[in-house]
Amino acid sequence: MHFVTASLALNIIAGAALPARKALYYDIPPPPSPEPIEVIELPLPPVAPSLETGACTLDINPRKTGCIQRELGDYEFQAGDFSPDGNHIIVNVKFVGAPKAPDPASIYDGEQLILVKADGTTFNNGDTWKCLSCAVPEGQQKLLDPQRDYPHVFRSGDKALWGHNVLDCNGHQLASDECTAQDTHIYPIYWAVIQDGVEKNGAPRELRLHPDDIHFGWSSFTNSGGQNTFFGRLQFNANPETGNILAPRYELVDVNLLYDPARSQRLTAKGKKIMIHDDAIGIGELRGFSGTGDEIIYIGPTWEANNIDVSAIHVVTGVVRRLTEHPEYTDPIAFSVDNKWFVAMDTRGSNRQMFMSGMRHIPPLIDLITVTVASSTRNNGNRRFFQPILIDGYGDRGDYFGQQVNAEGDGSAGAVNDPNWNGRADPAFSHDGTKIVYWQAIVTGRECGGLNPLPCPVPTTQGQREYRLMLARLTSRTPQPVPPVFDVPDQLPWATPFPPGSNFPKDSQRLVAGSYTLRGRISGHAIVKLTSSTSDQSRGYDTVAVNYTNYADVEGYILNGWEKVTSTILLPNPWDTLVDWYSDIEETGVVSATKRTSPDGFHLQIDAVANIFNATGTLTTTINGVQYKQPANGT
Ligand SMILES: *[C@@H]1O[C@H](CO)[C@@H](O)[C@H](O)[C@H]1NC(C)=O
Ligand SMILES: *[C@@H]1O[C@H](CO)[C@@H](O)[C@H](O)[C@H]1NC(C)=O
Repeated sequence: MHFVTASLALNIIAGAALPARKALYYDIPPPPSPEPIEVIELPLPPVAPSLETGACTLDINPRKTGCIQRELGDYEFQAGDFSPDGNHIIVNVKFVGAPKAPDPASIYDGEQLILVKADGTTFNNGDTWKCLSCAVPEGQQKLLDPQRDYPHVFRSGDKALWGHNVLDCNGHQLASDECTAQDTHIYPIYWAVIQDGVEKNGAPRELRLHPDDIHFGWSSFTNSGGQNTFFGRLQFNANPETGNILAPRYELVDVNLLYDPARSQRLTAKGKKIMIHDDAIGIGELRGFSGTGDEIIYIGPTWEANNIDVSAIHVVTGVVRRLTEHPEYTDPIAFSVDNKWFVAMDTRGSNRQMFMSGMRHIPPLIDLITVTVASSTRNNGNRRFFQPILIDGYGDRGDYFGQQVNAEGDGSAGAVNDPNWNGRADPAFSHDGTKIVYWQAIVTGRECGGLNPLPCPVPTTQGQREYRLMLARLTSRTPQPVPPVFDVPDQLPWATPFPPGSNFPKDSQRLVAGSYTLRGRISGHAIVKLTSSTSDQSRGYDTVAVNYTNYADVEGYILNGWEKVTSTILLPNPWDTLVDWYSDIEETGVVSATKRTSPDGFHLQIDAVANIFNATGTLTTTINGVQYKQPANGT
């Protein structure tokens, strides 16, 4: 799970909320009412008392089928999605404490891919889990890639994506007894790129499989702290002869760079006028696909100041729509297979981000330089403020902001809604649409106790495990059929073909330093100045100053006042940023709101990787008398 990147901060600009979209509302049904949801924790293998060889004793697991690590620590426990029957969840775990070989239990060692029962039953041996990758013969897992994140069951049910590998059970359903280690092959995924004239495996990250089981989407960091996103086709090569992965492999071919030079920027200039483009693409990080695969889901350019949202783009038409609107931060997301629902991990309800994003319908001009900090304040180190939110497929609209999946409970230690348990990536729907699975980690370490508002909790899970797997049943729903998958072409009409050796196109649409005017869609205008605070003009500008006069993009949200922000990247760490921020904006009409910094300004230093809030001065948003303040330093 990674987030909006420096490339977004530097390159991507944002827009506002939109009359064009309003017209769409005529076709959009009224939002659904809240529905009953029951949440339970699913069993995982037992926790080993230590990492010592043999610590997983017969007392702890009499069937000798493994014990897992208590801490998240050095690996990424990750739960994925359901098997087609909806009765199993695919999970990456780390087995520890196995006895030495030749003890048969010695195979339950290290990071492995397992299926967990989700229906209260067990596999034939009495376990609630089954290891898919343990004991696969060496000759059938040549050059296994160490990356094991984002586990995912293919729609066909007989294969799984396991990080940068495909686990293939030779036509058997993974959950069936016929699927054994002897039948299983694990193949690395290979993306041919050319570096220094030599073909080698590229560095994709966060791979997401299209529901057609053939196409893939992924993100990849650039060398300069940015990120690009891609779409390609998976093709098996039993006998590769090029590159540095010379074993049977799945290749990513027919690669598209998810970039349209005509639509790369939310804001462009026409002379001295800034134009807002609702149809800008600007994919910052790929999040996956809709349920039928007709859309790519991504974190892209913001639509309102400091409000990170998820958008969707149609794979063929290139039509873009905004899925979330709540001022809080959204990130991991998954659709139901019929596109009718999605579940998103979001900080909404925590009020974490409201101090900077709570005022609605400010065009995201300062986002030209504040996106990285706005996406970095969403969590406090490993205390995430994410909870799963169920939203219908049309997305947030009006005052509809979905329903928290795990809202019920008394909030006590270990309760379903215990705020010390925080959502992680990715959630998923069962194919019949009646169940959601998600996982959470408990806050540990620096991020609890002391100044932090919540004490250091002791996990109430089995063995005090620091993570838990949760199943939500949508009890009023009836099972729905799986609709046909969208027939996606290899070359997306709006994307850029990107065969091995391609160069990244140079973006000519980006705004340059200067003075501009932006007209409100409803009324008023904004004067915008992009300047450089240093004599070094190489970054173009590092300061955005905006004055609003009766500016409104949305009826009833009238802005007056100003903002001025300077952003400094604290090299050599390209993720570390200092912003010097001054705001004094008033909003009138539907709400009476202010967004104000203290007289000395608000000065925030934050590293987008560490996420430790460090500010002097204050930024406060007040909406109809309710004040939203920034978190205390270090929390
Ligand atoms: C905004 O207005 C103030 C005075 O009202 C002025 O000093 C400042 O230069 C203006 N900024 C912009 C970007 O127009
Ligand atoms: C907090 O930020 C300031 C710059 O505003 C910096 O001088 C200071 O070292 C930072 N403190 C921590 C603990 O990182």
